Amino acid sequence: MIIAIDGPAASGKGTLAIKIAEHCRLPHLDTGLLYRAVAQRTIDSGHAPSDEQAAIHAAKTLDAAALIDPRLRDRTIGEGASVVGAFPGVRAALIDYQKRFAAQDAGAVLDGRDIGTVICPDADVKLFIIASVEERARRRFVELSRRGGTISYEEVIADLKKRDARDADRAAAPLKAAPDAVVLDTTHLDPAASLQAALDIIAQKTQAP
Ligand code: CDP
Repeated sequence: MIIAIDGPAASGKGTLAIKIAEHCRLPHLDTGLLYRAVAQRTIDSGHAPSDEQAAIHAAKTLDAAALIDPRLRDRTIGEGASVVGAFPGVRAALIDYQKRFAAQDAGAVLDGRDIGTVICPDADVKLFIIASVEERARRRFVELSRRGGTISYEEVIADLKKRDARDADRAAAPLKAAPDAVVLDTTHLDPAASLQAALDIIAQKTQAP
């Protein structure tokens, strides 16, 4: 079984994907980490994430070890990931790895922006996770504060709005729900209630007719 989970930044899709994978005993890939690692490698090589050739080179030479770098969760790297993710050459370099992960015999859960539309168009279940921008900013603010960040709520919400616009407006694999995705709004749902709602959708979608 392949479960594709997409949605905007801080919508709760990452936490949900981990829990669904645990519940269904499926391997999980957070594809945002790939873009974050490309941004980090581009910066580490002395270039800005907006340097297309440097970003493509970083994507083509990426290896799995780069995905466990704790710096990848930093706010600036999330921003950089959204910049490198707009380059078609970067996306093309990362497609094979994601498709291979999805094709494992065991099945897989992948979360990102274009899983249901580009990476796994034939996924058994497609979820598109949304939440109001205010609630997403609140969640991201709590997460960053816990990690010792000093950013204000206002800065977080401004960041998210900028990232939403960049992710949705880009030409290459823009953030959008696949026509056959089920939209799940988690604005008023805590993690446990979000998981239950997602599991109900998965059960419905995978039940024999
Ligand atoms: O957790 P959050 O949503 O903030 O970030 P993420 O899922 O790690 O993704 C960071 C950035 O990578 C996003 O803003 C996207 O621009 C890009 N990304 C993408 O283009 N395609 C994906 N499949 C996953 C992430």
